[in-house]
Amino acid sequence: MTNLDLYAKAEHLLGIEEATEALYDLYRSELDSYEVKTLLDVGCGRGGFMRRMMSDGVTCKGVDLSNIMVDECKLQGLDAECIDVSQIDGKYDAIVAIFDVLNFLDKDALLKFLDAIAEKLDDNGVFIADVNTLYGFSDVAEGTMSSENEKEFLNVDAVFENNELHTKFTLFHKDEDERFTKYQDTIIQYFHKIQFFEKVKSLKLVDKQTFSLYDELDKTLLIFKKRA
Ligand SMILES: C[S@@+](CC[C@H](N)C(=O)[O-])C[C@H]1O[C@@H](n2cnc3c(N)ncnc32)[C@H](O)[C@@H]1O
Repeated sequence: MTNLDLYAKAEHLLGIEEATEALYDLYRSELDSYEVKTLLDVGCGRGGFMRRMMSDGVTCKGVDLSNIMVDECKLQGLDAECIDVSQIDGKYDAIVAIFDVLNFLDKDALLKFLDAIAEKLDDNGVFIADVNTLYGFSDVAEGTMSSENEKEFLNVDAVFENNELHTKFTLFHKDEDERFTKYQDTIIQYFHKIQFFEKVKSLKLVDKQTFSLYDELDKTLLIFKKRA
């Protein structure tokens, strides 16, 4: 199991449903100002945003690097694939990367990722993504939490140092025979300055809004157009 698969197995214990819905509202209202017929959701997770946009009549495609996430999308009849964004065919009116997806990539990987996004974007298309602010990493994400239900116990321990958030997930899952299986892995998230995004050659940062998802000014929404 990859670290992203462990995240997928643990996500329902993180208590992020409300924040996720609030983010979806924000993305949807931003997309309202564009004429969107086709949408690509990169890091689509369980496909919640695609379901919303499909109910607005938008054709949606999702990709995610976790097989668990993609399988859940497919079970709901969504068009999703477990492939890298660079492998996707076609062009889209809008591309989104919702809830920290860009923070999962280090600088080199992020540059490649953004170039691939530009390639999949229609000439007049829009790319919207969010990143954590320094405050979001150091004051909101850092720390320890645990959560449990009848079958599962999760501990999350996050340390922010040198612009990297190292989050150790430990999940105990009760099997049919009442024995626990332990899963443990670390996810690294990288802080990126807004200036980094301003310098990207293939995409132009046309707007940015810092907002509060959990706490004061913990996230920034980035809106890009393709550079001519
Ligand atoms: C915090 S979750 C958000 C999921 C979804 N966007 C949502 O809002 O519910 C981040 C997702 O990004 C996926 N992911 C991380 N790096 C990725 C990459 N390079 N390409 C595609 N998906 C990625 C993870 O597997 C995970 O499902």
